[in-house]
Amino acid sequence: MFHRSQLLAVIFSVIALVHASCLSFKFPNFQPSDEPSLILSKNSKLYLEAIQVTPDIRGEIADYSGRAFYGKPYRLWTKSQNRTAEFNTTFVLNIKNETSPGGEGLAFILTGDTTLPENSAGEWLGIVNATTNGTSHPGILAVEFDTRQNSDEDGPNNHLGININSINSMMRVSLQDFGITLSSGIDVMIRVQYAEDVISVFGSMNRSADMKTLLISPPLNLSSYLPEEIFLGFSASTSNYTELNCVRAWEFYGTQIAGDGPKLLWVWITVPATLVILGGVIFFLLWQRKRRMEMSEEAYPRIEDQIQHSSMAPKKFRLGEIRKATGRFSPQNKLGEGGFGTVYKGFLRGKEVAVKRVSKDSRQGKQEFVAEVTIIGSLHHRNLVKLMGWCYESRELVLVYEFMPNGGLDNYLYDDDEKLGCEDGLILSWKTRHSAIYGVAQALDYLHNGCEKKVLHRDIKASNILLDSDFTAKLGDFGLARTIQKRDETHHSTKAIAGTPGYMAPETFLTGRATVETDVYAFGVVMLQVVCGMRRGNQYSQADEYNNNIVHWVWELYGKGKLLAAVDSRIVTEIEEERVEVVLVLGLACCHPNPHHRPSMRSVMQVLTGEVAPPEVPKERPAFVWPALPPSFTHGADSSLTASQLVPFLGVGEVTGR
Ligand SMILES: *[C@@H]1O[C@H](CO)[C@@H](O)[C@H](O)[C@H]1NC(C)=O
Ligand SMILES: *[C@@H]1O[C@H](CO)[C@@H](O)[C@H](O)[C@H]1NC(C)=O
Ligand SMILES: *[C@@H]1O[C@H](CO)[C@@H](O)[C@H](O)[C@H]1NC(C)=O
Ligand SMILES: *[C@@H]1O[C@H](CO)[C@@H](O)[C@H](O)[C@H]1NC(C)=O
Ligand SMILES: *[C@@H]1O[C@H](CO)[C@@H](O)[C@H](O)[C@H]1NC(C)=O
Ligand SMILES: *[C@@H]1O[C@H](CO)[C@@H](O)[C@H](O)[C@H]1NC(C)=O
Ligand SMILES: *[C@@H]1O[C@H](CO)[C@@H](O)[C@H](O)[C@H]1NC(C)=O
Ligand SMILES: *[C@@H]1O[C@H](CO)[C@@H](O)[C@H](O)[C@H]1NC(C)=O
Repeated sequence: MFHRSQLLAVIFSVIALVHASCLSFKFPNFQPSDEPSLILSKNSKLYLEAIQVTPDIRGEIADYSGRAFYGKPYRLWTKSQNRTAEFNTTFVLNIKNETSPGGEGLAFILTGDTTLPENSAGEWLGIVNATTNGTSHPGILAVEFDTRQNSDEDGPNNHLGININSINSMMRVSLQDFGITLSSGIDVMIRVQYAEDVISVFGSMNRSADMKTLLISPPLNLSSYLPEEIFLGFSASTSNYTELNCVRAWEFYGTQIAGDGPKLLWVWITVPATLVILGGVIFFLLWQRKRRMEMSEEAYPRIEDQIQHSSMAPKKFRLGEIRKATGRFSPQNKLGEGGFGTVYKGFLRGKEVAVKRVSKDSRQGKQEFVAEVTIIGSLHHRNLVKLMGWCYESRELVLVYEFMPNGGLDNYLYDDDEKLGCEDGLILSWKTRHSAIYGVAQALDYLHNGCEKKVLHRDIKASNILLDSDFTAKLGDFGLARTIQKRDETHHSTKAIAGTPGYMAPETFLTGRATVETDVYAFGVVMLQVVCGMRRGNQYSQADEYNNNIVHWVWELYGKGKLLAAVDSRIVTEIEEERVEVVLVLGLACCHPNPHHRPSMRSVMQVLTGEVAPPEVPKERPAFVWPALPPSFTHGADSSLTASQLVPFLGVGEVTGR
């Protein structure tokens, strides 16, 4: 989706492109990872945090030449304009002689062709060879740091020269006069500045000096000698006189000529024309999209507006960023899949995250998306999975959560051969299970009673309870259960009921409504599963939903006075029988067929902490009667329950005022 800010960004980047651009880079040293951003000739290497322009192989460094360039070209001038770019670059050379004097030298070069000329070792410094010396093809400027005099034509040992298309300098200066010895193995700092058709070279062997020593400064119109687009770099060579030619650091800042210039008519014509055309295209796309959206989802306001209007909207991420974080939603990063979409593991802004990519084309998905972002974004609790941000772009709905390294609670509870997601056979101890139950109870109590608005989760189940690195349980997955349309409030269809079979209170099938009590029921089922373990196949068969489930089974054992027989055989040895019984009885109380008899989450908490005894539960599971009769008496702690019973379905969000 094009957004106003994106439109502006496009316009500004077009303006920037036309107006001015620059090239800048900085290598405080050279690491192997810098290699992709450089163009190195065959014998040049990154080694010892430096560019070794000629090889550093003891005893075998004679008669080499080499070149190293920054990987991106630099636009120096254009035909259409009467001006050249300006730049400023600083580098640190370290040349260590192995003969006396060291040979042959190193040069800072600007040229259109990065290839190292053949036979450019020895006196040629990798700048030219006998064939290309003195010819204007391909065009090269060199600031040479020559350590050895080759011939009468060449300068003295240890000199600096400016060369154009030739090994002979058009201007040179002896560095002895400035106290600089190039091939001493000591760092030499050099700054080359090009501005207003003058190239100036400053230098010092004192790293803390301010580089004010001007060594040479000839006027030079680079556009007369060099192609429009050049590469910047270094060349060097050795002969039977040898040295190590290193560049230890390099930074560059330069303006580029790309078509700048209010003086020029064509800019004034092409820029507005481009903008008008671009703007036209964008507005056409926007209009088309809007029309499509209006046609497909006229009933829903734009997602973004809905989310932005909610006061505590979490962070909005860019789709590009999320794609990058998940390796373009790579299947390798997939954590899980559900009716709503797919969850991926990602690495975003230095953190591990879980990224939920909601399936496209799901109209319900969008409602639930808004619900999840607005509700969860405003909730903060230790036992709720934290929503870090969201994204809605290019029809992609994405939610970003904190990453829960230990996955879903269900993975640890199955007591069968499959042991899904639990390859290492890790068994949760009774202590961990109890703290998971207590943590989730706290989170639910917070949702029901603790936050500004009453929030119903509506899809509490073991797989929606996630474990972080220290096995703290957190409730996740809000709002993405299937919902019933708000409009159909009077005609509930049981097929559209939210929730997961096996966790749904019996009255749900008649009323189709989520309430505080249906959340409590589902929590009760989770409590029983955590204590008893889960058995695949029998509990969740939907054929006889009401009778064939864990609640029925535990209640029967309770009736026979054999409650402890229900406990997961894997933790039987470590349990404290009394506490386990309390949890099981509390679980049954939560799963009371009559919603009015279920305890509130507040009461559940009090029982779990041992403040209060568990509610009394009849030995035989009471029949499900509807409409449920209100309790003849009211438990003090549970009085709020009757006031909040049967909160009508609200479709989006399931939030009701208190
Ligand atoms: C370019 O500018 C220089 C001075 O800035 C001027 O001397 C020269 O005549 C100009 N050339 C053209 C073609 O405009
Ligand atoms: C180059 O850098 C020096 C020192 O940082 C600064 O004084 C000078 O103005 C710069 N020149 C250009 C053309 O950027
Ligand atoms: C390097 O050069 C210096 C001065 O020119 C000289 O004294 C020294 O012996 C040379 N080093 C080697 C290894 O030849
Ligand atoms: C100089 O270099 C060019 C290009 O690499 C090559 O074609 C030519 O043969 C070389 N000349 C000599 C004398 O090696
Ligand atoms: C290189 O070319 C220049 C002309 O640009 C010439 O004067 C010089 O002698 C040549 N150098 C060598 C070593 O051939
Ligand atoms: C290096 O430069 C600093 C600042 O200009 C000066 O204080 C110091 O004495 C110089 N060191 C040498 C060895 O010249
Ligand atoms: C530099 O050289 C180019 C091409 O020879 C010329 O068009 C331009 O006017 C020159 N600039 C100056 C300032 O002399
Ligand atoms: C390099 O070779 C030249 C000529 O062949 C010779 O004069 C010189 O001494 C040699 N230099 C070294 C360091 O071997």
